Amino acid sequence: MKGLVLSGGKGTRLYPLTFTSAKQLIPVANKPILFRVIEAIRDAGITDIGIVVGDTAEEIKKAVGRGGRWGVKVTYIQQEAPLGLAHAVKISQDFLGDERFVMFLGDNVIQGGISPLIQQFATSDYNAQIVLTRVDHPEQYGVAELDEEGRIVRLVEKPKEPPSDLALVGIYMFDHHIFEAVNAITPSWRGELEITDAIQWLVEHGYRVYPYIHRGWWIDTGRPGDMLEANSLVLEELEPVIEGYVDRDSQVDSRVTVQKGAEIINSVVRGPTIIGEDTRIVNSYVGPFTSIYHHVLIENSEIERSIVLERSVIRDVDRRIQDSLIGRNVCIERSPFRPRAYKFTLGDNSHLGLVVNGG
Ligand code: DAU
Repeated sequence: MKGLVLSGGKGTRLYPLTFTSAKQLIPVANKPILFRVIEAIRDAGITDIGIVVGDTAEEIKKAVGRGGRWGVKVTYIQQEAPLGLAHAVKISQDFLGDERFVMFLGDNVIQGGISPLIQQFATSDYNAQIVLTRVDHPEQYGVAELDEEGRIVRLVEKPKEPPSDLALVGIYMFDHHIFEAVNAITPSWRGELEITDAIQWLVEHGYRVYPYIHRGWWIDTGRPGDMLEANSLVLEELEPVIEGYVDRDSQVDSRVTVQKGAEIINSVVRGPTIIGEDTRIVNSYVGPFTSIYHHVLIENSEIERSIVLERSVIRDVDRRIQDSLIGRNVCIERSPFRPRAYKFTLGDNSHLGLVVNGG
């Protein structure tokens, strides 16, 4: 089998974090989501992986390379615009040939990997198998309706009145018949070739399309709230390792990972938490469910349940920072100079929550 990872698109919902960069490269527990996707496919025994890229192609190529680091071979497939998931399949036909394949959206994180579902599909005579999971807000996703025998009868993209609570997880397995489908359908009202329409076409033309119900957690990291949730879930499962330096005046509990070159000085760090390479935590408190990426400085400050990206500085902040997503090269510090005013340089679509005096 082959793997197809979709890493194009624009990621507008995570602006400004993805204003200039690919949303699939945002780290969850200090590892880019896309790397987690590649590892999940590799761990299922698939080593020939195509990655569909768009505007952020250069950044993705630079981060992933040819895949040698994971023992896989990566082929890049350029999509000229985000014209839909089925469009991405269409332009990947040369790469995929006649082989069965798994398509994985590059911004999804799933518990437990994909080996069980790949095994089931690889040994079945199904033409397609779609991973579904029960969710509270099906209207935000593609939704499936099943018949009494458990076969897929209908798929609808983000329906106002969902026919069930079974959402499409963003992992799909197909054989070559999917190319007939993507070539037969036309763009939807939003101008995209929808994978749900292509799968619906397979169903209507008598092909065997079955669900795989996923029972662990799954997160589509498309929205900032989801990033923090995904980060917490992945941190919960991380095997802690201390590779950096913790001084004698610090308290670091057993669920904390301290990566190479990191230093914890006179600080308290509570897990599950990860402190990235060459990051320094000085006279500070880092609380549970926090991922601090590499080359960050946190000094005389407190932070918890947050993600801080590389090369940022948080210094002398007298309120605890919480539930925050902080981008690259950000500096948050108290200024000794007058006037005693807030001074901001914020990207487009930033969100800043200030505490009311005395609150
Ligand atoms: O995450 C699950 C959901 O993913 C499913 O429930 C929906 O049925 C499915 O359509 C999809 O919805 P999203 O709105 O989350 O799709 P999004 O536009 O965020 O794209 C998902 C990934 O695919 C993302 O990594 C970008 C990439 N992509 C997207 C498009 C439209 C491409 O590579 N090319 C494209 O043309």
